[in-house]
Amino acid sequence: MIDLGSGWGGLLFALARKYPDRPVIGYELSWLPWIYSQAYRVIFRLKNVCIYRKDFLTAQLPQAALLICYLHPKGMQALQKRLSSDGQAQNSMLISSTFALPDHQPAETLRLDDLYNTPIYLYRLFNPKR
Ligand SMILES: C[S@@+](CC[C@H](N)C(=O)[O-])C[C@H]1O[C@@H](n2cnc3c(N)ncnc32)[C@H](O)[C@@H]1O
Repeated sequence: MIDLGSGWGGLLFALARKYPDRPVIGYELSWLPWIYSQAYRVIFRLKNVCIYRKDFLTAQLPQAALLICYLHPKGMQALQKRLSSDGQAQNSMLISSTFALPDHQPAETLRLDDLYNTPIYLYRLFNPKR
């Protein structure tokens, strides 16, 4: 699983605890959340977690079954361009909280039972080279 923009690690660490046998990878550009989450990872000995201080738009992403993100509209636009420009994410699923990919139809949209009825978009990623 890869959290694209892992921030302070809230989601990343919840996933790592729920799935201790699965590798959980984060990409985070900002120094402070990255340092905090690295320290958290070490202190709580989360051995299945790896957090890169890298731009996920330009990094070579490992093959992952599941990509997760909670970005913003511009970030989703950039992510869509990235996912369409190479075959790295083929046969993966993308789950995006709150913001949709601008030009893709989600396979499913869920609504959280929270104050904003937050949408959760689920995409099955295609092979753009076909
Ligand atoms: C709203 S936070 C989400 C944090 C976390 N995924 C969560 O749900 O708790 C979005 C994070 O994405 C990071 N981010 C945005 N664009 C990025 C990029 N291209 N590469 C790496 N990190 C990025 C931001 O620095 C920010 O910390």
